[in-house]
Amino acid sequence: MKTSIEHKLWLLAMQGHITPDKSLLKTPEQIEGIRKSAELNTAVLDHVAKHIKAGMSTADIDKLVYDYTTEHGGIPAPLGYEGFPKSVCTSLNNEVCHGIPDENIILEEGDIINVDVSTILNGYYSDASRMFAIGKISKRAQRLLKVTEECVKRGLAAAKPWGHLGDIADAINSHAQANGYSVVEDIGGHGIGLEFHEEPYVSYVAPKGTEMVLAPGLTFTIEPMINEGSPDFFVDEDNGWTVYTEDDGLSAQIEYMVLVTEDDVEVLTK
Ligand code: MF3
Ligand code: CO
Repeated sequence: MKTSIEHKLWLLAMQGHITPDKSLLKTPEQIEGIRKSAELNTAVLDHVAKHIKAGMSTADIDKLVYDYTTEHGGIPAPLGYEGFPKSVCTSLNNEVCHGIPDENIILEEGDIINVDVSTILNGYYSDASRMFAIGKISKRAQRLLKVTEECVKRGLAAAKPWGHLGDIADAINSHAQANGYSVVEDIGGHGIGLEFHEEPYVSYVAPKGTEMVLAPGLTFTIEPMINEGSPDFFVDEDNGWTVYTEDDGLSAQIEYMVLVTEDDVEVLTK
């Protein structure tokens, strides 16, 4: 016999909506494991928040993340992931994402940096990132951080059980554009929980009512990258990872990991 969720998904698929495969809808037991992983991930970010300061290298952030995660029974998910050499992504100023920690990259007063932490605990994956302002930052950088946070919050507010991923994207993209900013295309969020990157791919530039149906049990990230200038970017040719803005403008990103329940979309990484 089909559950009512399966029946609803079947009907929506018949109507042409993109619906998640049943394997993407987590069981209560899996959700428990994912929640615990997300709690550790949040604690790692809190630990970074407590210690991050000017004069520190991004390799020092990597050490904070590696030590705290492993001391609490977890594994940093980025370490060795498709050859990524470090435990965390640290993306500074004009870096869009996937910055590699380096002992020669020193945080300076006025910098903005995204620290993107991902954790494996008992086989369950979690992922979240925050922006940090190092000392006093420019008005220009302050405005970008404020709008980026508003974008993610608006995206979350637009997320409703049985709505669509495109509802989130539309809320984010329209707020970014209203503020004269752009949203990066072709790099997006993702399903997460049993793997680091699962289906669905989560675009932040899709129209309302399009993309996958938000069925209860789905776990994914909301992690738009907001550029102050053009959305264009390029990847570092030497290290193959670090993504930079094409026009050298600032970029910011905040990442939440969420769970769709029967009556809510809950942030697991608070
Ligand atoms: N946390 C990043 C994401 O949003 C991870 C990128 S893969 C890594 O998916 F290897 F760089 F960590
Ligand atoms: Co992510």
